[in-house]
Amino acid sequence: MNIKNICCIGAGYVGGPTMAVIAKKCPHIKVTVVDVNKDRIAAWNHEDLSKLPVFEPELDTIVQEARGRNLFFSTDVDKAIDEAEMIFISVNTPTKTYGKGKGMAADLKYIELCARQIARVSKTNKIVVEKSTLPVRTASAIKNILDHTGNGVQFQILSNPEFLAEGTAVSDLLNPDRVLIGGDTTPEGTKAVNDLVEIYGNWVPKAQILTTNVWSSELSKLAANAFLAQRVSSINALSELCEQTGADVNEVAKAIGMDSRIGPKFLKASVGFGGSCFQKDILNLVYIARTYGLDEVSNYWEQVIIMNNHQKQRFSDNIVSTLYNTVSGKKIAFLGWAFKKDTNDTRESAAINIADNLLNEQAAVSVYDPKVVEERIYADLDYLNSRDSEENRKLLKVENDPYETCNKAHAIAVLTEWDEFVTYDWERIYDNMEKPAFIFDGRGVLNRELLNSIGFVYYNIGSGIIE
Ligand code: NAD
Ligand code: UGA
Repeated sequence: MNIKNICCIGAGYVGGPTMAVIAKKCPHIKVTVVDVNKDRIAAWNHEDLSKLPVFEPELDTIVQEARGRNLFFSTDVDKAIDEAEMIFISVNTPTKTYGKGKGMAADLKYIELCARQIARVSKTNKIVVEKSTLPVRTASAIKNILDHTGNGVQFQILSNPEFLAEGTAVSDLLNPDRVLIGGDTTPEGTKAVNDLVEIYGNWVPKAQILTTNVWSSELSKLAANAFLAQRVSSINALSELCEQTGADVNEVAKAIGMDSRIGPKFLKASVGFGGSCFQKDILNLVYIARTYGLDEVSNYWEQVIIMNNHQKQRFSDNIVSTLYNTVSGKKIAFLGWAFKKDTNDTRESAAINIADNLLNEQAAVSVYDPKVVEERIYADLDYLNSRDSEENRKLLKVENDPYETCNKAHAIAVLTEWDEFVTYDWERIYDNMEKPAFIFDGRGVLNRELLNSIGFVYYNIGSGIIE
């Protein structure tokens, strides 16, 4: 089949950018991204490109080029399914918050709803592509639902996990390390795989398009995130040891990273990894291993999460103990709320837990993030249910100006590595703070010599306070 019409269910951080890039690179294919969330679709269709629901460098340019030509955003899910030859499922797969597997397993209710809707609407044969991250063997559940439609429509299920990272989504999509496609080895399965290979082949070299069986593809996605998160937890574990021993974690990271077998990436010590996927996907892996009775395997991977939680907790504990064991009534300025720079996404951001811990200590927290809006910050805090929303608004203030955020603060906590933080007028900030003026750099981005020379007491994750 020569694919001319694609539909993607789910217009989120993955569905939106992925389909925008497919539309850009395949002007001969009509791409329709659908979502049940009307506001999100309206934002994707907004004339003002700064209002797109996902902030990613270069995304606005691509949307501008393709939208209305061969890229469409719509809430009419049935129509898009009906017209498409290939349907990507890119809906959210969060950790279950109820029932069996609560707090561990992936919640597949949105996936199942999509499968049922595709089954109900389809009148012609379709290729269904799992773009969401799913537990290994989910494709068989989807296939089961689709094959019981009783209307004679044939479905092929492919697994095509997404490896983009937020903040670099567009460049990751334009130049992926690899594209992974899992499919059945039957003639129909192979044909479907080839159809998808052909689409990516419009811009990805064939050697980088890897085809496997469906289960390997599903599991590889969980494995990739587990390995990446494990590296962050490993370097964070060492960061604590460095602070006790006088070693500097950045020097250690550089020294080990120059070993070509280890490599330099993902060795930046931090306040703890966040993002919508690392924790959820590892929990999912832990849960799957446990359901197969593989306790050692599941305990091994669970440790990555335990270490991450410890890193967040020890960062806030350190602020409290350094500020003479009390932050009650003291203003603590947060620079950054997003889980990493160049994104407005805050899901599982370390800043949320650190704020919560400090609010429990009655600190007055003030937050500045260049891309995260006030409502999002309060929604993140309210979601924890630690105190009522009125109390959260009383104790935590969101500012639009970093200098205002730091004004009269006892301490600054750097929680996201936004480039602009480095360029601030740190003398001015120092002059307007309470003394001693503390900085807790949870990202290791600021200039120690400069800050020390101005008079700050500067704590850097993984080397501690060196005066
Ligand atoms: P998201 O929450 O940003 O977007 C999902 C969208 O799906 C939402 O807008 C929601 O309204 C919509 N949706 C849910 N059910 C629907 C239905 N039945 N019909 C129509 N729309 C529906 O999620 P995301 O960050 O884009 O992640 C999607 C998947 O991709 C997840 O499985 C995630 O693990 C995976 N993933 C995410 C990233 C990332 O960087 N965010 C990277 C790789 C993989
Ligand atoms: C991650 C993976 O990198 C993607 O390949 C994957 O597709 C995606 O998850 C997903 O499945 O959702 P993302 O979460 O967007 O991407 O961002 P990362 O760059 O991986 O960063 C994750 C977290 O780890 C961030 O909080 C980041 O600050 C932290 N991190 C990363 C460190 O603390 N140190 C590092 O050296 C690297």
